[in-house]
Amino acid sequence: MNQVITLVTGGAGFIGFHLCRRLLDEGDAVICLDDMSTGTQEHVDRLAVHRNLRFIRHDVTRPINLHVHRIFNLACPASPAAYEADPIKTTLTNVLGTRNMLELARSNGARFVQASTSEVYGDPEVHPQPEGYRGNVSTTGPRSCYDEGKRCAESLVFDYERVHRLNVRVARIFNTYGPGMREDDGRVVSNFVVQALRGRDLTVYGDGSNTRSMCYVDDMVEGLARLMKADSPVAGPINLGNPREISILDLARMVSTMVGSASTIVHLPAVVDDPRVRCPDITRAKAKLDWEPRIALEEGLRRTIGFFAERLVVQSPSAGPDRGRGSLGVVEDSAASLC
Ligand SMILES: NC(=O)c1ccc[n+]([C@@H]2O[C@H](COP(=O)([O-])OP(=O)(O)OC[C@H]3O[C@@H](n4cnc5c(N)ncnc54)[C@H](O)[C@@H]3O)[C@@H](O)[C@H]2O)c1
Repeated sequence: MNQVITLVTGGAGFIGFHLCRRLLDEGDAVICLDDMSTGTQEHVDRLAVHRNLRFIRHDVTRPINLHVHRIFNLACPASPAAYEADPIKTTLTNVLGTRNMLELARSNGARFVQASTSEVYGDPEVHPQPEGYRGNVSTTGPRSCYDEGKRCAESLVFDYERVHRLNVRVARIFNTYGPGMREDDGRVVSNFVVQALRGRDLTVYGDGSNTRSMCYVDDMVEGLARLMKADSPVAGPINLGNPREISILDLARMVSTMVGSASTIVHLPAVVDDPRVRCPDITRAKAKLDWEPRIALEEGLRRTIGFFAERLVVQSPSAGPDRGRGSLGVVEDSAASLC
């Protein structure tokens, strides 16, 4: 077979970068398509060392014509701070962007993997969340652009499967973390790690009893790759995430201890519509993909702390007046740090 051409939309972002790298290492020709709204030039530059990488700066809300065999549709800001900053664009990226990428898949006869999210379960009344649970999502709150946008995107994907017989798969991604996250994107792991490394207070929204299940990015990429490659049909969505659940307060304590920081934990008002619990039921992923996460939270955090520690040294060398404040752009008071 000729070389597989794989399109990764959102390829300059956190998960997209790791996914592109993995696909390039496996020998695919990769098209990384990104509008650079939350993606980084550093990721593009690091990918561009591979001769099989082609970067296209493009907004998925506009149609595009390309020759591709496979599409991973990851384009969408994932941090609440980012997706709430332009909520109308977030909805359009999910709905119009997904429609455009599905049309591209249709014209190429390409296999299509959609990056959906655990947010489709909203503030869940069923715990852990199996794929059959239909969710408890607000259509009116500040997060609805993302949650409902992703729900509509799923609906479009399965309509293209029914109407156009497109070969589609939907990954419901749970919280994912690791090296390559932006310091300033406001997600809980990057916030805690950077705050601890800088000796600042760790900000917990509410009492910290809400839970998350953190999946290391290499495990997530493995799950996405298996989902794309699975030759037998994968009917319906599939949860990808780490079922080890931890409270946000315990996560803050863990990061602080691992960094060896003297930081204290401070509590800020709870975030609107923030889910109280979140934990994937990954029975289907185990059965259909023979996949489950391998990297323990301690190990994943160790690698993530190492990544940010190195960047801190590079970015703020014994610097002048800015030292200790603002040079990393960490969103410390944002009401959107949980993700
Ligand atoms: N990281 C997580 O914990 C998590 C959890 C659930 C779902 N997801 C999903 O996984 C995907 C990747 O998430 P991430 O953590 O890498 O986020 P990210 O913000 O780091 O990456 C998203 C990428 O999409 C690009 N993008 C955004 N809008 C675009 C548009 N209109 N056109 C083209 N490119 C656009 C951004 O520039 C960025 O490079 C997203 O679809 C997200 O919803 C992530």
